[in-house]
Amino acid sequence: MIPGTLPPVLTIDGPSGSGKGTVSRRVADALRWHLLDSGALYRVLAHAAHAAGIATAESGELIRLARTMPVAFTRTADGEERVLLAGRDVTCAMRTEECGSRASEIAVLPAVREGLKALQRDFRRPPGLVADGRDMGTVIFPDAALKIFLTASVEERAQRRYKQLKEKGLNATLHSLFQDITARDERDQKRAVSPLQPAPDAVVLDTTGMPVAQAVARILELARTRFIQTVPGH
Ligand code: DC
Repeated sequence: MIPGTLPPVLTIDGPSGSGKGTVSRRVADALRWHLLDSGALYRVLAHAAHAAGIATAESGELIRLARTMPVAFTRTADGEERVLLAGRDVTCAMRTEECGSRASEIAVLPAVREGLKALQRDFRRPPGLVADGRDMGTVIFPDAALKIFLTASVEERAQRRYKQLKEKGLNATLHSLFQDITARDERDQKRAVSPLQPAPDAVVLDTTGMPVAQAVARILELARTRFIQTVPGH
């Protein structure tokens, strides 16, 4: 990195169930870069607000919480990711569909989005950052060196989510997930501030029927053409 320049960022945006989470983790591991799971920040905030009895309408309280919540991302010895809020493990609580819906509700609030900006930008550290979310390439890191927008059909996304939840032993029906994803897409795409949409300079990748490994390989190939010197193993 040239002194005085910021570490490079690769953004991976897209709707729930597009495979962003898994793909972003694998790309970050392959590059040996840091990872920002920005959805987790919205979820932790939703969880913390709910636990503190703060309603969605109390935007002042929500901003204060967004700016001050003591959140930490760690990995266990066997590589499992854990999210801590004030030292307490909230990983399971924040992964529920209920918490995801609450996160989507507070994410429409401009003040909340503003309140989480600095926290998200703090993740930009050498050697580089893979940022996973909805507005990473459009708002948080508009200067990203590579922007990817992942999509997949609603049917396939509901199936993937169903499988994920079952594996975690959490309860859900395919029908309710389909409805929930459709409602969440609508809310995420239509909100006035930072709506879910590809940046004009994003590469759109439709992962319907595409194995994760193929999506990862495609992104690494694109990264290789842009930061050839920093992709390990190439
Ligand atoms: O990716 P996820 O399902 O964990 O995100 C939860 C919610 O947070 C999602 O419905 C929309 C919101 N979100 C957002 O508005 N902007 C982001 N950068 C990330 C998530």
